[in-house]
Amino acid sequence: MMIHEKAKFFKALGDQTRLAIIGCLLKHDYCACDFAAITGKDQTTVSRHLKILCEAGILKYEKEGRYVIYSIMDDNMKDKLENCGIEKFDSCCPDNAADAKKEVVKEKYGKIALDVVQGCGCCGDLTKEEISTSIGYSSEDTQSFSAANMGLGCGNPTAIGEIKEGDIVLDLGSGGGFDSFIAARKVGKNGKVIGVDMTEDMIAKARKNAEKYEFDNVEFRQGDIESLPVETGSIDIIISNCVINLAPDKSKVFREAYRVLKNDGRMYVSDMVLLNDLTLEQRNDKDLICACIGGALLKDDYLGMIKDAGFQIRIMDQDKEIGENQYSGYPVMSLKLKAFKADAGLD
Ligand SMILES: C[S@@+](CC[C@H](N)C(=O)[O-])C[C@H]1O[C@@H](n2cnc3c(N)ncnc32)[C@H](O)[C@@H]1O
Repeated sequence: MMIHEKAKFFKALGDQTRLAIIGCLLKHDYCACDFAAITGKDQTTVSRHLKILCEAGILKYEKEGRYVIYSIMDDNMKDKLENCGIEKFDSCCPDNAADAKKEVVKEKYGKIALDVVQGCGCCGDLTKEEISTSIGYSSEDTQSFSAANMGLGCGNPTAIGEIKEGDIVLDLGSGGGFDSFIAARKVGKNGKVIGVDMTEDMIAKARKNAEKYEFDNVEFRQGDIESLPVETGSIDIIISNCVINLAPDKSKVFREAYRVLKNDGRMYVSDMVLLNDLTLEQRNDKDLICACIGGALLKDDYLGMIKDAGFQIRIMDQDKEIGENQYSGYPVMSLKLKAFKADAGLD
């Protein structure tokens, strides 16, 4: 290697995300589309890192139909990288990382819906009522809908969401329907609430709860929040509670939210974000993913994605103690925000 090539090589290695990409590729080849889910970075950032690694002669790629498959340049380069101490890394979900992560989440939340396991794995010995009252629900809320409250939230978007009589509300990741029912009481018989969740058993549970609580203004649809089964421009208020961190492609979720909201619509989100970056191992740990930690993004990356989708943001609240109190000291916090279409002239 010439000296300038060496400089390029070592410069390319001087970044955590690029080292993570190389570690995965030392194990086997990956599609470019997998790295966002594996590294927790958006696709544009991933593309920039892949370009640097190719320009440094470390990676090569081949097009296979609509997929771009990346691999280490050759065996010589593999030896060189291993000699530099770069460890091979196994993602939890080697083939099609994004879809595989969704399957992990579906399986876990399916078990929670069926009461095979209690809670998402974050909150120790706290009861569902204790969790919910500690994050902003009233005892009246938890007592009114005890069958729907599974203690899975990280805030109360119905408390910050200005939901009025007659509104059409969309609940992203509606779980057992707790927030949907609180919203349904507010919108009354002239309004409607649509809950979307990808887990079949959660949807079944939410529908059963809707019957139990005799709501006929709530509909639960099985679907992915990255591709919403909802008409464009039809929603007044979106609420979402501790869900978007679980979606591998958060940019898609925010673009979809923008699509379905009316021009003067608003989105109220409560979600987990990171205070410090996680290791690649933590990002790919199935239990941490399901506990709303592994898939969480750094706060600024998360807010950047919402803005890129076309929203303006107001931060309503942030709870930094929740990491210590409920998430075993992981560097996470619960963020509550309001977002509205940037060009709608709202506040
Ligand atoms: C932590 S629970 C929160 C449930 C509810 N929002 C609450 O506060 O009780 C996350 C829910 O999001 C659903 N979910 C996760 N990823 C999803 C996705 N990509 N599309 C739709 N639902 C999803 C899960 O099935 C689960 O019911």
